[in-house]
Amino acid sequence: MADSRDLDFSYSLIDRIFRLSLGELADFSGAKYDGDFSLTLEQAQARKHDYVAEQIGIGPGRRVLDLGCGWGPLLNDIRRRGATGVGVTLSSAQAAACRRHGLDVHLRDARTVTAETFGGGFDAVASLGAFEHFCSPQDYAAGRQEQVYRDLFANIAGLLPPGGRLYLQTMVFGPQMIPIEEVSIDAPRDSDAWYVALMQRQFPGSFLPFGQEQIVRTAAPSLTLVSSVSGRLDYIETIKQWRSRFGERSPQKLLLKLRLLPHWLTSADFRLAFTSGVSANSVCFERELLEHHRMVFEKPAV
Ligand SMILES: C[S@@+](CC[C@H](N)C(=O)[O-])C[C@H]1O[C@@H](n2cnc3c(N)ncnc32)[C@H](O)[C@@H]1O
Repeated sequence: MADSRDLDFSYSLIDRIFRLSLGELADFSGAKYDGDFSLTLEQAQARKHDYVAEQIGIGPGRRVLDLGCGWGPLLNDIRRRGATGVGVTLSSAQAAACRRHGLDVHLRDARTVTAETFGGGFDAVASLGAFEHFCSPQDYAAGRQEQVYRDLFANIAGLLPPGGRLYLQTMVFGPQMIPIEEVSIDAPRDSDAWYVALMQRQFPGSFLPFGQEQIVRTAAPSLTLVSSVSGRLDYIETIKQWRSRFGERSPQKLLLKLRLLPHWLTSADFRLAFTSGVSANSVCFERELLEHHRMVFEKPAV
């Protein structure tokens, strides 16, 4: 699993720049354009929230758990709909930002949440853009990937009533993924092997599932797949919008970027991850080295 140091690298370091660029409580996962790229990023993220709410039943009186809640966009939407949301994240900056907005967020490993953790179960569970971090390259190398996923799904099923639903949105390795042994940052620039390696530098400690098949298979003992929709092309547009927002200049952002200069000078990983000038994820989606799925699961009635 990506640990809190890894996630601080990916999320806490850029916390203020992120919030200045995208706004407080902004989403940091693929939006739902459904191919209509005339929508604004905010409209497409709102469309995603509507979809999640409809799929897992978020409404007045419902209690919903968000595993890997980021800066709290879904929790905010849950609150707006009159439901009660609880979130977990491993980024201390995100937890602090969420709490400033009155959201019930805990610094805790999503994989260890059980019915005892928050004093009972939940009517529904959501996890957007976090599953990517639950298995580490070390877990994969040790042959533990499937076990990590199986344990997580068993825990989630333990939180839900029969018929209760999980919304899971995640990247996976896509149909054109190359053999893992070929992935290398020393491979020729612009090769598939280089782009996947660059993506891994941006998200250290994280390793993706091999297609949705692996997710469905490992969930099967606990949860049944209801539906799955590809969000790959929508994700490419989301990244395009993020990059243009991050690129908008402001004196505050300039100051924050200057404060990151020591990291830039001392860490080759930081330079590669944040200033290499390319979006590895976007290229990987275009080349179908990556896929993206919006999946809905249900706990079978006994
Ligand atoms: C790409 S962000 C997505 C955030 C949010 N769900 C959204 O849609 O904006 C990934 C989130 O997963 C969290 N995360 C990753 N691994 C985690 C773990 N094991 N336990 C809790 N949170 C985790 C990170 O801290 C971060 O908040």
